[in-house]
Amino acid sequence: MKLNWAERWVVNNPLRVFQQKIEIKWLKGMRSLKPGANILEVGCGRGAGANLIFKNFQPSQLHILDLDLKMIQKARTHLSAASKDAVNMYVGDAIDLPFKTGSLDAIFGFGFLHHVPDWRQGLSEIARVLKPAGLYYIEELYPSLYQNVITKRILLHPEHDRFTSDDFRMALDEAHLRLADVFELRKMGILGVAAKDSL
Ligand SMILES: C[S@@+](CC[C@H](N)C(=O)[O-])C[C@H]1O[C@@H](n2cnc3c(N)ncnc32)[C@H](O)[C@@H]1O
Repeated sequence: MKLNWAERWVVNNPLRVFQQKIEIKWLKGMRSLKPGANILEVGCGRGAGANLIFKNFQPSQLHILDLDLKMIQKARTHLSAASKDAVNMYVGDAIDLPFKTGSLDAIFGFGFLHHVPDWRQGLSEIARVLKPAGLYYIEELYPSLYQNVITKRILLHPEHDRFTSDDFRMALDEAHLRLADVFELRKMGILGVAAKDSL
């Protein structure tokens, strides 16, 4: 689901970039990647995360995908000169990723999965396109943060079948994505890294 005006303001904001800088440092400290990895960022928004991924992980290829064409257009102008040549941009849906099974070393998802009505299918697509032992870097929010009495009047999200911490952890397990490193505020959200089973 695309963002409404209020959430666009929240994510297209310098404070959001500052938050993502700190989160990426933490994620990298938990699990780093060898330079030259093949990486996807799903729900990339205006590309602030892509710049940070590029700088911190030095991928050989960085694919960024968003449902919203306007976000991809913003990303095109927002990407740093250094990252522009290595980045492939896609308008697409997380529930049907345009990548081959087992083709990616890592996937980043900053606050996108709770926007996806069929989020379980989104997770199973992430698991499908990751290589065995590939990493899913996660930042996600829970409904008591984005659907409480105040935020549900301001923000726009799918209303049904939203995931709590328990739902999310169970679905990760069912998708063979094992949560390895995690910082979680159980009512609010999660920052973590999950590894796909290596078979
Ligand atoms: C809260 S924003 C986060 C943007 C960016 N990752 C950030 O952290 O600033 C969620 C993003 O996910 C995108 N999105 C929502 N549903 C999606 C879907 N089904 N497939 C791909 N992207 C989606 C939205 O268009 C939006 O850009």
